[in-house]
Amino acid sequence: MFGTQAINGRGHLCIGGIDTTVLAKEYGTPLYVYDTALIKNKINEFKQAFARHAGLSWQIAYASKAFSSIAMIQLIDEQGLSLDVVSGGELFTALKAGMNPKRIHFHGNNKSYAELTMALDAKIGAVIVDNFFELDLLEKMCADRNQEMDILLRVTPGVEAHTHEFIMTGQDDSKFGFNLDNGMAERAVKQALQSPHLNLIGIHSHIGSQIFETDGFAGAIKIMMQHVSEWTKNFAFQLQVLNVGGGFGIHYTDGDRPLPIERYIDTIVTTAEKECAEHNLSMPSLWVEPGRSIVGEAGTTLYTVGSSKDIPGIRKYLAVDGGMSDNIRPSLYQAQYHAICANKASEAAQSQVALAGKCCESGDVLIKEAFLPESCTSGDLIAVFSTGAYGYSMASHYNRISNPAVVFVEDGEASLVVRRETYEDLIRQDIALKDLSRNK
Ligand code: LLP
Repeated sequence: MFGTQAINGRGHLCIGGIDTTVLAKEYGTPLYVYDTALIKNKINEFKQAFARHAGLSWQIAYASKAFSSIAMIQLIDEQGLSLDVVSGGELFTALKAGMNPKRIHFHGNNKSYAELTMALDAKIGAVIVDNFFELDLLEKMCADRNQEMDILLRVTPGVEAHTHEFIMTGQDDSKFGFNLDNGMAERAVKQALQSPHLNLIGIHSHIGSQIFETDGFAGAIKIMMQHVSEWTKNFAFQLQVLNVGGGFGIHYTDGDRPLPIERYIDTIVTTAEKECAEHNLSMPSLWVEPGRSIVGEAGTTLYTVGSSKDIPGIRKYLAVDGGMSDNIRPSLYQAQYHAICANKASEAAQSQVALAGKCCESGDVLIKEAFLPESCTSGDLIAVFSTGAYGYSMASHYNRISNPAVVFVEDGEASLVVRRETYEDLIRQDIALKDLSRNK
């Protein structure tokens, strides 16, 4: 159980002091429920981890790809965090939410002219430039508009972190960033330093996601700082910002053992300090971009059980009223989740079932081996935990299933922050044959 999750006297799962059966009744299912107190706790963990290092300059930019909505961005803004956006849509959402543009950083490996125009119009804080095409385009756009822009260069340090390990790759095969080991990054630094309108303030790397160790971050920082040291000597480059991305792991199932946030941050800070001392460089501002670790565990999806199919000697399927349309992660990444029967949360969960979705795909199974009470059946409420990151944000309309609603809960109060899509919403952009101009 995370954050404010608890079981009440009726054996019902409560989140934010509210009975989940009440939430399901009021807002319907599937329903994404966010425990906002837990989101704030996670943010505080990051802040406190940095605050332990007196005199350090730092920024925490929430990676909005994990979950973006107007209310979510407003919560992030209220908490004083910065924001990482990766598309015109995420930038639009942030601006509409009233986020201070100076605290927005724009990522992405193929930003369009229109997207960069939005960023320049809004005068956002920084663009993280990913490739030479973008470096040329942004300089030209800034020159045409007689505007300056702070930039970071995204580099690929040749370190790839996976869930339980990290590896150093000889050659970097990634669509993102400028490779360090083949001189690409050095050329980009040179070009950026000569750009009249771009202020190169730092470099960025993101080594992976759902990382459970600190060595990958340390390894990436060491490699980056070696190069920075050379660039400083050779072209008077001054590193003001070292951005090490996101990727801090969270708990989905009991197999996951995430580290306390301060372990990651301590490693990042102490490695950067050591490298700076070694290369005689002044300490840059350290930026991180957590997404999953801010919202992942705070999100729970509620579903209602419908049909079931028992295949003797093989397995029993229990089908819920959502699935890969609201959580693609099990089918896309074989991601594992933990679920309980939310209205029978005190009953022993000893019956093994496959928790299936309702989409027309055999692979639409949310949890292959879920343990639920023997009595769990049609009409019961299922809670799948840790769905706060990359659930809603990767939801689709496959089978023309409408996207669920999102509620924030805290201190016994629920607030609807994203409405459930209606069938009318689903056909809103459709144009009927009779309305096509060629038929008029
Ligand atoms: N910064 C950059 C540049 C990134 O590319 C990402 C994630 C993040 C920060 C945030 O990473 P986080 O702290 O959330 O791990 N859809 C996948 C995850 C893709 C992550 C892509 N980049 C999933 O559902 O697991």
